[in-house]
Amino acid sequence: MKDGFGREITYLRMSVTELCNLRCRYCMPAEGVCKRHHDEMLTQEEMLRAVRVAAELGIRKLRITGGEPLVKKNILAICEGAAAIPGIGEICLTTNGLLLPGLAKPLRAAGVSRLNISLDTLDARKYAWMTRIGALDDALKGVEAALEAGFERVKLNAVLIGGWNDDEIRPLAALSARWPVDVRFIELMPMADKSAFGPEAYIPCGRVLEVLPELLPVAESDGVARLYRLPDGQGRIGLISPLSAHFCGRCNRLRLTADGRVKPCLHSPREYPVKGLDSEGMRRQFLAACAAKPERHPLLSYECRSGANRSMNRIGG
Ligand code: GTP
Ligand code: 5AD
Ligand code: SF4
Repeated sequence: MKDGFGREITYLRMSVTELCNLRCRYCMPAEGVCKRHHDEMLTQEEMLRAVRVAAELGIRKLRITGGEPLVKKNILAICEGAAAIPGIGEICLTTNGLLLPGLAKPLRAAGVSRLNISLDTLDARKYAWMTRIGALDDALKGVEAALEAGFERVKLNAVLIGGWNDDEIRPLAALSARWPVDVRFIELMPMADKSAFGPEAYIPCGRVLEVLPELLPVAESDGVARLYRLPDGQGRIGLISPLSAHFCGRCNRLRLTADGRVKPCLHSPREYPVKGLDSEGMRRQFLAACAAKPERHPLLSYECRSGANRSMNRIGG
């Protein structure tokens, strides 16, 4: 499936729930998510139907997101079902890690090949503040559980926030020497709700290069991140710069939200509902969303915010 700009679309990000066991300030309002009626959300059967249709259209990589995908009761069955669909070569999952001590091994057995884990700080007080209800130790135990379960190329995602964790760039990056993991710094994306952070929070990933002049560029590319390595690094350091839209030219993805909307772009308000549709109906919606992919999103800043009309937990990151 090719979009209007000749980009081959091979990657689907599927959110399986809007719910989460944390309340990160850049992602969710303080009161959490208002729990929506069952009937509004995709069923397991509909999710797998959508993945099958997407695979027939050329999707090869599936990333399961949320909310927090591991709070979903039937997450293992969803992963198993998706892994059995012909054409799906890789199932990856993005998580805050808290439930990995119990789930890392079963996820591997269910066919998940890679994990990305969110970790924005190594300071327990800051972690508690940012997540509103979380404990840093639980997240670290999650990372260890992922490594013990034998997941390779685990990636840690740190959203870079000026005045909050830009003083932790060095210790966060050093995790790539302590563990065989990639550490990726992500520019904070200004979603529609302006209340969480002021303009000073939106700093470019270039800050990482200023703090770590010893970083060595790595030639291979890896989707959305520009890659480097610490001289003693086991894993790599990735810089993800969504504010500058630098990876839109190579965008290969569509998104499916937990309430069954195919989104052509993270930052677009356009949505193509598939809830309740049969395979043929879903196929039409996927093709329409693909055709509606914008060439790029506008440059984002504190003033010029994302056009998506949802908070991040309701999109899937
Ligand atoms: P891999 O390349 O498979 O490791 O996954 P990923 O980096 O696409 O996935 P992950 O869920 O770890 O997302 C990392 C960051 O990239 C998150 O902050 C996402 O919101 C952001 N991101 C992912 N896809 C897009 C996209 O299409 N556009 C923009 N602007 N940001 C994205
Ligand atoms: N800006 C940048 N990254 C974000 N994430 C969630 N909200 C934002 C935001 N506003 C990240 C999470 C997770 C990934 C899926 O998206 O930290 O690692
Ligand atoms: Fe693709 Fe939109 Fe993401 Fe750019 S912002 S990389 S066009 S989904």
